[in-house]
Amino acid sequence: MPGWVVPPPKETTKTKDEFRKEREEKVKWLIRHRYLRSKRIRDAMLKVPREEFIPSDYRDYSYLEVPLPLPGVNSTISCPHSYPLFYEPLGLDEGHTFLEIGLGSGYGTALAREIVGSDGLVVSIEIDPVTFEFARKNLMNAGYDDIVLVKGDGGLGCPERSPFDRICITAACNEIPPTLIEQLRIGGRLIAPLIEYRIQNLVLLEKDDKGIKRKTICEVLYVSLRGRYGINEE
Ligand SMILES: C[S@@+](CC[C@H](N)C(=O)[O-])C[C@H]1O[C@@H](n2cnc3c(N)ncnc32)[C@H](O)[C@@H]1O
Repeated sequence: MPGWVVPPPKETTKTKDEFRKEREEKVKWLIRHRYLRSKRIRDAMLKVPREEFIPSDYRDYSYLEVPLPLPGVNSTISCPHSYPLFYEPLGLDEGHTFLEIGLGSGYGTALAREIVGSDGLVVSIEIDPVTFEFARKNLMNAGYDDIVLVKGDGGLGCPERSPFDRICITAACNEIPPTLIEQLRIGGRLIAPLIEYRIQNLVLLEKDDKGIKRKTICEVLYVSLRGRYGINEE
């Protein structure tokens, strides 16, 4: 990953209890640094064991603020702070119908499942078949068996489950795929890293009956979107 120093692979040495303590410390850190505010997101981050979504060679680093490599092409699990960074402005909440583009490890998907609860729905799409399989197993092992997982191009969305209350794109794009804006419900929000003048801005779109309002949140660094609306890096 350009811009990050990924620590070297090593065997897992930490116990379940040590990971739990690190998770609790991380949540306190996220609150102190004002990434984390809402109770549902905080409870989800305390509950989901992030280490179970990380390849064993990198598990000891689960709560470090670095993205870690995943099986597949250019796939990473994002830093812990990325999840409240996306989900707080998105206003992800109980009962929402949520679409995620870029399943990765499945960790963000599990958090979303906890946040939207049993009245909500989570759909996640992953383009890389190796990454998809890794995430599918992680989610099954962690007991998340009611998430709709789709192997394919997330730029095309999931018309059969649309409209969505919230959409999150976890890879950087040159334009927000128009298909995804179409699949957003009126009153819905979409968040994505958007490439503008060679940097990536995290942008939040809100759809109302008059059109789309846009807000820029901060600069970020994400792997590139692939597929129909992807970035040609040749
Ligand atoms: C930063 S990672 C996602 C991290 C993930 N949210 C997690 O918690 O581990 C971005 C993911 O987007 C996937 N991706 C890239 N282009 C895609 C597309 N068009 N459709 C679906 N997934 C895509 C990549 O393969 C990668 O797994």
